[in-house]
Amino acid sequence: MFDSISFEYDKLNRLISAGNDVKWRKKIHKIAKKLNPKNILDVATGTADIAIELSKIKDSKIIGLDISEKMLNVGRTKILNKNLSEKISLISGDAEKLKFNDNHFDLVTIGFGVRNFQNLEKGLKESYRVLTNEGTLIILETSVPENKFIKFFYLMFSRTIIPLIGSIFSKDNKAYSYLQKSAEEFPSGKNFAGVLQNCGFNNVQILPQMMGASSIYIAKKH
Ligand SMILES: C[S@@+](CC[C@H](N)C(=O)[O-])C[C@H]1O[C@@H](n2cnc3c(N)ncnc32)[C@H](O)[C@@H]1O
Repeated sequence: MFDSISFEYDKLNRLISAGNDVKWRKKIHKIAKKLNPKNILDVATGTADIAIELSKIKDSKIIGLDISEKMLNVGRTKILNKNLSEKISLISGDAEKLKFNDNHFDLVTIGFGVRNFQNLEKGLKESYRVLTNEGTLIILETSVPENKFIKFFYLMFSRTIIPLIGSIFSKDNKAYSYLQKSAEEFPSGKNFAGVLQNCGFNNVQILPQMMGASSIYIAKKH
């Protein structure tokens, strides 16, 4: 599905989130920078926006991995244009079967990726496996606001505007209906923190963004 929307993905992301997706990725960079990671894996990197943001961390090397070759190709062009090929490598791969040794990365990030995994726990356990013992996982994912009043407006927006934007601007409007539906059904907040704990992660922090329309989760391997 992401192959079919790769060219429009960045623009529609900006439009649907009213530019907030850029701020959220900058927040990930701010959190990550304090951890001073050297080896970073950005899982479900897509068009590499998180990888590019993380490349600002001094002495870091980033691998961006994704299952969609066309999303990666958009990312590769951006990396070439920004002269970041020394810092970022983009590779094709499956989050649920990572081809890396255990205890390898200081930081794993996953932006708007986990809700697309076929098997959520399998994917998260793979991220856990490849992290070093001191390693950290940072996830950015859509969530549903807990406050009933805000949730009402959130659902109204997401059920009407997102599919409408998809039908006007996208070649694949089914993709945007899927993205909206999956965002509503995916576990968020404390429920998602519970999934992370079941996969072995510790000290899970939840940082709701934009009144809970998305959340950043920070979890430690140990
Ligand atoms: C919504 S995009 C997010 C892209 C990017 N991380 C961002 O912040 O914009 C989701 C990405 O997850 C990728 N993806 C879904 N399942 C995957 C898997 N099992 N392994 C690797 N990538 C996967 C898709 O190909 C797509 O590029």
